[in-house]
Amino acid sequence: MAHSHDTHHHAPGHGHTDGHTHGHGNHPDAETMATVLDLDATVNGHYLGEVCDRIAVLVPEPRTMLDLGSGTGTGTLALARRFGSSQVVALDNSAELLERVARAAQEAGLDGQVRTVTADLDSALPDHISDVDVAWASSTLHHFADAEALLRSTFRALRPGGVLAIVEIAEPPTFLPPDSADGEVEQRLREAILGKGWNGGWNGRPDWAPSITAADFEIVETRDIPTDLDNPPAAAADYAVEWLTRVRSGLTDDDASAEDLAAVDQLLHDDNPASLRRRNDLVVRSSRIAWIARRPENS
Ligand SMILES: C[S@@+](CC[C@H](N)C(=O)[O-])C[C@H]1O[C@@H](n2cnc3c(N)ncnc32)[C@H](O)[C@@H]1O
Repeated sequence: MAHSHDTHHHAPGHGHTDGHTHGHGNHPDAETMATVLDLDATVNGHYLGEVCDRIAVLVPEPRTMLDLGSGTGTGTLALARRFGSSQVVALDNSAELLERVARAAQEAGLDGQVRTVTADLDSALPDHISDVDVAWASSTLHHFADAEALLRSTFRALRPGGVLAIVEIAEPPTFLPPDSADGEVEQRLREAILGKGWNGGWNGRPDWAPSITAADFEIVETRDIPTDLDNPPAAAADYAVEWLTRVRSGLTDDDASAEDLAAVDQLLHDDNPASLRRRNDLVVRSSRIAWIARRPENS
């Protein structure tokens, strides 16, 4: 089991040595990261229930769960809420983000179930962690320098029959009606930037299946989870501004027409009546992918 006094400090934002192209040195500070993660949970959080359902089929009453790279605690809180008799250990290398997890758990009345551990997960879990029922890693595995080593370490920390749930954004979100002129601009800019290997600076979509099986897990299922919303909450406008601002900052005059770049600038300009924050026709199109795997019973 993990102990909450563990402190393996590590500079936040480090860990991008896994071969991904991360745009333009786009390493958000903890505050910006927290804002975006919380917006993501508010706007796209409906994937959480579906992944929890799949876990519940395999482990109906988990006692101990880990959230690897917990961020502000989106996964931690979803797991604690769903599995009421469990203990969830949130691990992250950002003490600042973990403080937010602890605060959010307290506000939700879940602090009795949640503990935070500052740990560098670049290549392994803290080695005293064992007998875990469920390990969860959402939008996070690609941040670790040696994800395969971390998966092997996670395998050892799980009990036989324990479950590993890995989630990534499969399709980054778009926010404008696809059949509108602005929606077409958004599509073109998105294709231009994805074509450059951009991944939003905080997410990627590698196929983790080979790494999961190389660590001796058996994959139970791979699941595509659409997170589309036709009537998104008001927070979708702020989330759209975050995404489009980052897309825009990664584009140069060579990547897109002057008209398209001007159009996106207008979308981001709050004084413009058709800007993202002032229009009421936003729709969210995006999807998650989840790999649900298990440490074999006889291993
Ligand atoms: C994109 S966020 C995902 C947060 C959360 N799992 C979620 O789904 O909202 C990635 C998280 O990984 C953490 N992280 C990055 N590198 C790390 C490392 N080497 N060790 C531990 N955590 C790390 C970051 O601090 C951040 O909280």
